[in-house]
Amino acid sequence: MLLALHYWSKMEYKSRMIITIDGPAGSGKSTAAKKLAKALDIAHLDTGATYRAVTLAALRAGIDLEDESALTDLAGKIDIRLEYGQGGQVRVMLDGKDVSREIRTADVSDNSHYVACLTGVRDVLVAMQRRMGGELVGESGGFVAEGRDQGSVVFPDADVKFYLDASCEVRARRRCDEMPDADYEQVLRAIRTRDERDSTRAVAPLIKPDGAVVIDTTDMNIEEVTAELLRQVRSAQ
Ligand code: DC
Repeated sequence: MLLALHYWSKMEYKSRMIITIDGPAGSGKSTAAKKLAKALDIAHLDTGATYRAVTLAALRAGIDLEDESALTDLAGKIDIRLEYGQGGQVRVMLDGKDVSREIRTADVSDNSHYVACLTGVRDVLVAMQRRMGGELVGESGGFVAEGRDQGSVVFPDADVKFYLDASCEVRARRRCDEMPDADYEQVLRAIRTRDERDSTRAVAPLIKPDGAVVIDTTDMNIEEVTAELLRQVRSAQ
């Protein structure tokens, strides 16, 4: 009986659990989103992967990255899927092929902002992300969506919204720790440029969504960030 009650309450707890995490690059949101999703046993919706997949497809097809109409057309035609394996591992599939590694190359990272600032492309991807979210609620009871506009545009009715931030210097340091060959000053400059671009772009700029819990991760490690997110989710139940 106790077991049944526990099971029931877990299911109840999980039903319709939609969590969004937005924030700038290096704020810790990707790792935190993965860890939070794992702790709650729900899916991780990495929406940056959808922008990266369109960028990769455009680079491969040799499409001009400022041609909104051609890129919107492309975004509507390609098949992007996030496949979930054991332990929440996500494979990114583009037209049936695994591109999980290709979408993380410097070429794609450096060029994804072109597609991310186009209204036509965003409209296609926002609809795609909502569809993916709907499927994930059915399959795993909920999801943690991570990106730049998840709480503000894509899932404004999310159960819990987070906005993660950190100082430019700490974010640059974290990036350098991931890429030992990187030059700190260069990474810092790139982060500042990216922040400026993300927060001032005309379409879906990076903002703190209404009702979001803002967490400054400057002086926190990833375990502390995940614990704080979990604490906030539990207190919101
Ligand atoms: O989070 P990321 O580095 O994987 O994102 C890749 C690109 O997509 C980056 O230019 C920011 C953009 N992006 C966005 O505009 N909106 C999102 N919801 C997610 C990512």
